[in-house]
Amino acid sequence: MLDEVVTVIGTPNIALTKYWGKRDEKLILPTNSSISLTFDENLATTSSVVFSKKLKEDRLFIDGKQLDLNEKEPKERFQIVDMMRSMAKTDAKVLVVSKNNFPASSGLASSASGLATLTYACSSALGLNLSKKDMTIMARQGSGSSCRSLLGGIVEWKKGERQDGSDSYAEQVVDEKYWPELIDVVAIVTREKKKVSSRSGMKQTVATSVLYKARLGYIEQANDRLRKAVRDRDFETLAEITMRDSNDMHAVMLDTYPPLTYMNDSSRVVLSMIHELNDTEGKTVGAYTFDAGPNAHVITLRKNVDRIAKMLGELEEVEQVLKVGQGGGPRVLKPKDALIGGDLAPI
Ligand code: PMV
Repeated sequence: MLDEVVTVIGTPNIALTKYWGKRDEKLILPTNSSISLTFDENLATTSSVVFSKKLKEDRLFIDGKQLDLNEKEPKERFQIVDMMRSMAKTDAKVLVVSKNNFPASSGLASSASGLATLTYACSSALGLNLSKKDMTIMARQGSGSSCRSLLGGIVEWKKGERQDGSDSYAEQVVDEKYWPELIDVVAIVTREKKKVSSRSGMKQTVATSVLYKARLGYIEQANDRLRKAVRDRDFETLAEITMRDSNDMHAVMLDTYPPLTYMNDSSRVVLSMIHELNDTEGKTVGAYTFDAGPNAHVITLRKNVDRIAKMLGELEEVEQVLKVGQGGGPRVLKPKDALIGGDLAPI
């Protein structure tokens, strides 16, 4: 529906088994399936969207700043808007206004929540009303891991087999109420932006890493075990798979030529602290995982959250600690929450 402002709130996700490599660059089809946890709204992105013939050009604002849509990254990610526009058979221009509630420049990736909310809001504003599955297929083509943010709880992005990508979509493993005790304690060690984007980093890994083959040889088995561990609420198994897969991804990153080093000394301090803690306790109480950056995510059960948050907070390497539970995926907000005014301008 042209001229209608649609506002959606959504959240990032943290992968327990990682997506790192594509089998198709254009359609963004992954070499392996990945499983993640969708965050609650303590870390959220709100996006308002309006399509209108009255707008002269496409415009995108994130946290009050207008982005240049001719620049590589926003341009690539905005392609999904063109795809949806052509599905709706309209050439109306769009205004997108997005806001993150993350603590100022926390070093946390907002592209997943950004693209998930953008896809959801565009589908609704254009009257496409795509199914959740089709929305995940759409979002995947903007940024792979964002497709997992369209669903709540624990979510799997299936790699799929088909060349057209029609069977590479995200699906819920369990909803956010199934195992709500599972929490992510995030330790921010730096607020710097990463030097090599995930997109180009993973491409180099697929092209040059000799260890990458071994990764692909084990990961689907790990996913089978992880799905079962989630359904059985088996923290020990989930924790081991999570830590090993993070280590494995960072090993193939280092095996990339030239090497990619996203973790730093501070990340390794957290890694050692968690192993020491688990050793001292004689059981697994925390599981670290790192994405394409040095900030640590420690997955734990609610009963251990305060203790782990305190230990992380006491490390001199850690700047800030956040506790994030599981959320239910994106939802539409009321018109009063819109970030776009009646004059078709950002509020
Ligand atoms: O979707 P991208 O291009 O932002 O890649 C994300 C890759 C990792 O965050 C490192 C892993 C993952 O599965 O989320």
